[in-house]
Amino acid sequence: MNFHILTLFPDMVMNGLMTSITGRAVQQNKIGIEAVNIRDYTEDRHQRVDDYPYGGGAGMLMQAQPVYDACKSVLERLPEGRKRRVIYVTPQGEPFTQQKAKEFSESEELLLLCGHYEGIDERVLEEVVTDYISIGDYVLTGGELAAMVIVDAVARLVPGVLHNDISAETESFHGYLLEYPQYSRPESWHGKEVPPVLLSGNKREIETWRKKQAKERTRERRPDLYEKYCALEESKAFLMKQKLLHMDMIECINRGQAEVLYRSERELLLRERCSGVLYHAGAPENPDEWEAGQILLKEKQNGKLCLVLHGEQMVTCVEELLSLRVSLTCCQAVCTRREKLPVRGLYRQDTFTTVLGYQIRSLGEADGDAVLAEYEGNMPKAYVRECIRKGSMKGAFLDGQLCGYIGMHEEGAIGLLYVHPDHRRRKLAQALETVMINEGLERGEIPYTQISADNQAAILLQEKLGLCRAKINLYWME
Ligand code: ADE
Repeated sequence: MNFHILTLFPDMVMNGLMTSITGRAVQQNKIGIEAVNIRDYTEDRHQRVDDYPYGGGAGMLMQAQPVYDACKSVLERLPEGRKRRVIYVTPQGEPFTQQKAKEFSESEELLLLCGHYEGIDERVLEEVVTDYISIGDYVLTGGELAAMVIVDAVARLVPGVLHNDISAETESFHGYLLEYPQYSRPESWHGKEVPPVLLSGNKREIETWRKKQAKERTRERRPDLYEKYCALEESKAFLMKQKLLHMDMIECINRGQAEVLYRSERELLLRERCSGVLYHAGAPENPDEWEAGQILLKEKQNGKLCLVLHGEQMVTCVEELLSLRVSLTCCQAVCTRREKLPVRGLYRQDTFTTVLGYQIRSLGEADGDAVLAEYEGNMPKAYVRECIRKGSMKGAFLDGQLCGYIGMHEEGAIGLLYVHPDHRRRKLAQALETVMINEGLERGEIPYTQISADNQAAILLQEKLGLCRAKINLYWME
């Protein structure tokens, strides 16, 4: 991932970012950072980049021309097809959050535009900017510090930057709780002792203690976050009444990706933030007064809608109200155990080699064409390529030849499973899914998959793997 910071103070930005972890990540080629001096692009004889605002008022404005040309110079040299965003840092922007950092970390090229004086001529912003971001409700003397904050928060989510991907995920804000207090040696300092539970070695008790501390701290310091946390916990309790049916929604909450759009005693409507998919569970008492339906109508006015219904009861209602059609009827199969699956068919778990000598490994962008040559599923090809790029797919190889693959959908379900006809009946699908499930378990997830309700082979495979199937179907409506 590359960061391009458009600024009048390139040294300030580079001096700050080329030290510490971001600097090391650049040296190790995990990320790229460049500062582009906007002043280099001015056409003014005196190198000026600012002028008085029309209509009067205090201060000066950065002019459109140098900003536009600086931005264009970066965009023109980016390879085609790279995922890019142009962020203008401004107190008038949307608040920067961990969620935004995650969203930006999915780009390949991030341009950050730093304003100075009283801001930038609106016309150039309209032409180049994709996101307006503020790092807080205060005013800095320029956008450089804000841009550096964003680069730092996004860079640490890029795989390999932290050396330890788990810590990037389990820290503050994952699931709306602040982090618990931490202690290191010595056991006693200034008469203060480390809480005894942390010395007990009892992992479960430590986990419970930490959760309690995190909750208390969040309630005291960030009541706004605590309220969201409680709403999600109550939502989860509602979903747990039918946990096989609702595991996609429960996992969405567990991963910190859920936004509650509507909640009542009988119903829940969530947005999965990564994919934008909406999940609906339950049913209203009176379908003629369906409040969640009104929210869905508004969502539909804002663009394309993809909605997953849990159970058949609301299908007709959604068809009539929203003119959506069922695109897939499927049943959810869940790995309810916490311990890893036995590795049948895999004789070397460390390198994922099967009894018959197939090697299973993560797919990279170079494998994209081989996967798509075989792909028979109904997801768009660009989507499959994106899953590969994100590292969410695995392939099985024999003598370097791709024979099958599996993936994790962006909303978290295991899927995209395929085995080439020449390699079927060798338990390859089982081996691929075992690897996928066990990796999910290692990350502390509850792996699940959604299989087309009429796909007998897939249903049988889930049974063989020991997954539990929900009796009620899911309906993808598009
Ligand atoms: N530029 C000046 N103040 C800022 C802020 N709070 N956030 C982002 N950019 C800024």
